[in-house]
Amino acid sequence: MEKQIIVAGDELARQQEYAARVRSLARRPQTFHIVTMGCQMNERDSETIAGMLSEMGLRPEKTREKADLILYNTCCVRENAENRALGNVIWLKELKRERPDILICVGGCMAQEEGMADRLKKQYPFIDLVFGTHNLHRLPEYLWRVLEERNPVVEVLRSDGVIAEGLPQQRASAFSAFVNIMYGCNNFCSYCIVPYVRGRERSREPQAVLDECKRLVDQGVQEITLLGQNVNSYRGGGGEFAELLRRVDELGVPRIRFMTSHPKDLSEELIAAYGELRHLMPNLHLPVQAGNDDILRAMNRRYTRERYLDLINRLRSVKPDIGLSTDIIVGFPGETLAQFEDTLSLVETVRFDSAFTFIYSKRAGTKAAQMPDDTPAQTKSERIQRLIALQADISREILSAQVGKRETVLVESVSARDEGWVGGKTPRGHMVNFPGGAELIGRLIRVEITSAGRNTLRGKRIMEE
Ligand code: 5AD
Ligand code: SF4
Repeated sequence: MEKQIIVAGDELARQQEYAARVRSLARRPQTFHIVTMGCQMNERDSETIAGMLSEMGLRPEKTREKADLILYNTCCVRENAENRALGNVIWLKELKRERPDILICVGGCMAQEEGMADRLKKQYPFIDLVFGTHNLHRLPEYLWRVLEERNPVVEVLRSDGVIAEGLPQQRASAFSAFVNIMYGCNNFCSYCIVPYVRGRERSREPQAVLDECKRLVDQGVQEITLLGQNVNSYRGGGGEFAELLRRVDELGVPRIRFMTSHPKDLSEELIAAYGELRHLMPNLHLPVQAGNDDILRAMNRRYTRERYLDLINRLRSVKPDIGLSTDIIVGFPGETLAQFEDTLSLVETVRFDSAFTFIYSKRAGTKAAQMPDDTPAQTKSERIQRLIALQADISREILSAQVGKRETVLVESVSARDEGWVGGKTPRGHMVNFPGGAELIGRLIRVEITSAGRNTLRGKRIMEE
């Protein structure tokens, strides 16, 4: 069955021909700039888009205003993400007036939303290309049509989704890489639009994942993050996620992470992997969303508070210093004060290293959009402030407890604020800044933690025998 959803080789060859045609056009854009919104999935897709545009002969341009082709890879998980994307697009109208030759492209989750393509076509006729999440691999063909027909192209397919292997890519980092293992989501959490715009769950073949990881290891990549909307339901080649993780671990990449995990599918084998796999970092992002059973049921999360807490206990018994992070939604339709306080008490019990907190945002077409929601916006905002304050205290305490420890940091960047400082993450995922130069980027450096701030640590480099 899986074979049917894999984009056939001859289709990809056809796209390569289009790419060659675009490349040979005298009047084609020379440079591109991609604006990526939303999650790591989009970041990864943008690397593929960059790869395809490079194959078409375009070069990346750092300054958006100077680029000949500007592409927005959009998100629609919450309304403000969508408003940000639309706000940007309106701004581009002005730019297009000044430079009529630039091409404006809009892709990603917002473009895939029901009714959005028509709306974009009507309200923003200056957009040259709109494409969805299921036909990313056909970008060369669409761009060719835009350039040949000089008319806007709008192509958003209704589909459960496909897997396209072997697309070109331009990776954003030389030392840390995202690798997709699966696409789509079948969970239909009642508030969430993702299953509607990303399609059904489909897993890559384990060998395809392993080959990609092996190439990255050979290129010197230090950290691989396996990506999927719900990696725990990975079923490539009939195998489970923990098995895939084990095989990636055997490749010897120094650091492995993954996201995102759904608590209902977190298996015994995966918990055990934290005690066994040498390269799996002691860190897990496990979205809880709420701490009250009635709200969890209304959210269609299919676990209870007790079951979630039990998972945390089991993870900690295998890996006591595991760093846990989570996502929490405040103000789900009908949430009472007492139900919200269950979320606060769960946060106090678990003591996450960090939490991404969101006010519920109504998404058209989801089940929760039909539920009565009479909590005033002001109340929701006060609730999220209480939650943020509580989590900030916990985060600060956890960071303070790191002072004096010796850690290995994968250096990511030079500090924008402090000249002569660099920053990177510990295995557990804490950001550490310490004095050092750009030559350290991409290297694993031993550091002693000397002080803790609100969100980050400071340290100094140490030499050990
Ligand atoms: N409103 C608020 N937050 C949402 N999320 C997903 N859908 C919504 C929504 N409609 C949050 C969830 C998810 C994270 C990626 O975004 O917490 O885990
Ligand atoms: Fe959305 Fe739930 Fe799927 Fe996550 S698991 S993408 S929250 S539907």
